[in-house]
Amino acid sequence: MCGIVGGITKNNITPLLVDGLKRLEYRGYDSAGLVVLTSKNILQRVRAAGKVVNLENSISPEVNGMIGIAHTRWATHGKPTIKNAHPHICNNNVGVVHNGIIENFLALKTQQQAQGYHFTSDTDTEVIAHGIHQALKNCDTLLQAVQQAVTLFQGAYGIGAISPKNPGHIIATRSGSPLVIGLSDKGNFIASDQMALLDITKKFIFLEEGDIADITLDSVTIFDKNGKQVEREIKISKLKSGQVSKGEYTHYMQKEIFEQPQAIRDTLESRISKNKVLTSAFGHNAKTIFQNTEHIQIIACGTSYNAGLVAKYWLEDIAKIPTHIEVASEYRYRNPIILDNTLFITISQSGETADTLEALKAVKKRNKNIHSLTICNSAESSLTRESELTFLTHAGPEIGVASTKAFTTQLVSLALLSVAIGRCHNQVSEQQEAVIVDGFNQLPNLIAKALEQEDQIIKLAKTFKDKFNALFLGRGAMHAIAMEGALKLKEISYIHAEAYPAGELKHGPIALIDKDTPVIAIAPNDELLDKLKSNLQEVKSRGSQMIVFEDETSNVMPMDGMDIIPITHNLGRITAPIIFTIPLQLLSYHIALIKGTDVDQPRNLAKSVTVE
Ligand code: G6P
Repeated sequence: MCGIVGGITKNNITPLLVDGLKRLEYRGYDSAGLVVLTSKNILQRVRAAGKVVNLENSISPEVNGMIGIAHTRWATHGKPTIKNAHPHICNNNVGVVHNGIIENFLALKTQQQAQGYHFTSDTDTEVIAHGIHQALKNCDTLLQAVQQAVTLFQGAYGIGAISPKNPGHIIATRSGSPLVIGLSDKGNFIASDQMALLDITKKFIFLEEGDIADITLDSVTIFDKNGKQVEREIKISKLKSGQVSKGEYTHYMQKEIFEQPQAIRDTLESRISKNKVLTSAFGHNAKTIFQNTEHIQIIACGTSYNAGLVAKYWLEDIAKIPTHIEVASEYRYRNPIILDNTLFITISQSGETADTLEALKAVKKRNKNIHSLTICNSAESSLTRESELTFLTHAGPEIGVASTKAFTTQLVSLALLSVAIGRCHNQVSEQQEAVIVDGFNQLPNLIAKALEQEDQIIKLAKTFKDKFNALFLGRGAMHAIAMEGALKLKEISYIHAEAYPAGELKHGPIALIDKDTPVIAIAPNDELLDKLKSNLQEVKSRGSQMIVFEDETSNVMPMDGMDIIPITHNLGRITAPIIFTIPLQLLSYHIALIKGTDVDQPRNLAKSVTVE
């Protein structure tokens, strides 16, 4: 998704802007640009379609100034071309970068055209540049102009603006899209994501909804949405800049797959003690909230949604609380019945996914008698701010667009939650809890063992080189894991993949099966194993290539054209979905490598989707 970096320093800002944009590349984008205010007080802009390196190669020596703003654009309104890339400039007097969508841009555009403004792009952002320019005619400062202009904008925005009329100032504002201010000895900075600035500073101010900040070389002044000057806390980020490098790995995704044992250890740390899950890890009032919880509604998108699907099985099975789950983009636009005493759970790696965030806000407006919990990987995010309870997945920064360690740490967090709520409802005995906690403790080693199957999986991946379709099968919670496996394959290898509950195959999808459609099945040794084995026979007799990931004790009968990969043995209902995720991640990764796709930044995708 779009990224913003900006700053004001004592030296040429251009290299820092380029470096910041490179750090935001992981979010997904299709063009980039920057503008600086030169020593002659002129806006010097450069833009390029494609990668940041194209922008870097287009920078001439004149693009040199101590103050500037930069952007990576993920196209929403208008194609990913140079003319649509940010920054947008109005009459050489205002330069802006923008994340989000201005929903009333068409109406504003018509008004501004009538006022004589000439549009050079197809974007919604250009109305911001013209709107600020118009306001600047009656204002002494850029700050006042932005304060006046934002009253026109409906929708979501994170904005950075500079102007030769008021040199030495960057004005930054946000509503619905994230924006942070980085403070350092070198100067002051803005970014849509602290990751962009980690090499420069660890000191951040996270702007709140509607805040407008006036940033100079040595000061930051913040006004809230009512124009009142406010103090916002300075936070020290615990993220390390080294955490966002690939190290010895070829891709971030590969690194993140192999980091999972440690990510899970980190997520479990201080959350279990002896044989118990610590309910207080969910918040000091979590126990009371959990005791009063009668219903659970989970909302999420993408991979996080798949984690929620698994959690539905656990929450109903272990905690015995009726649980519903829905994708956020659907939930937020209908009129769901929200029962009192519902625990509303959002799951999100970034904490910034617009659909998830807006669904939560809508629910809170509709029913005051609910509680909210977010399972999130980003401590300072819009979702953690909006939620009553926060449980952080300690996965560390996840850069690969296709989520891996965020997913397995979400599963661990949701399993801890199922036990904690179950105990509050007297559904989990001490003995059961001790067995489950023992399973948690084994997870890092079990994952390490599953990762050892990589060589076998590489061989299988080679057989996918010319495939266009694949089918993933699982039963029970493994259907959700099959969905995650199919999503991974689609995202990074561009092979069409579908997941089906194995028992549903005969009601339609079996018609798709032929020798060119590989079927990947997950076969844990659980109460549905015999049923799954029958389903596998149905598939095999239709001549498909099959790959079965099984528990060593599942004893799936070998057949021609079937590869059986034992993963590990005697997995429980919580450990099994987490462990069986690993071979599916490796399979997608190696298929993508063979197909030569852009593994970490697959086409058209964004890491954090901050627009609807
Ligand atoms: C995007 C990403 C997915 C992610 C989804 C939800 O689509 O490409 O990998 O699962 O957003 O993101 P979240 O940050 O809310 O988990």
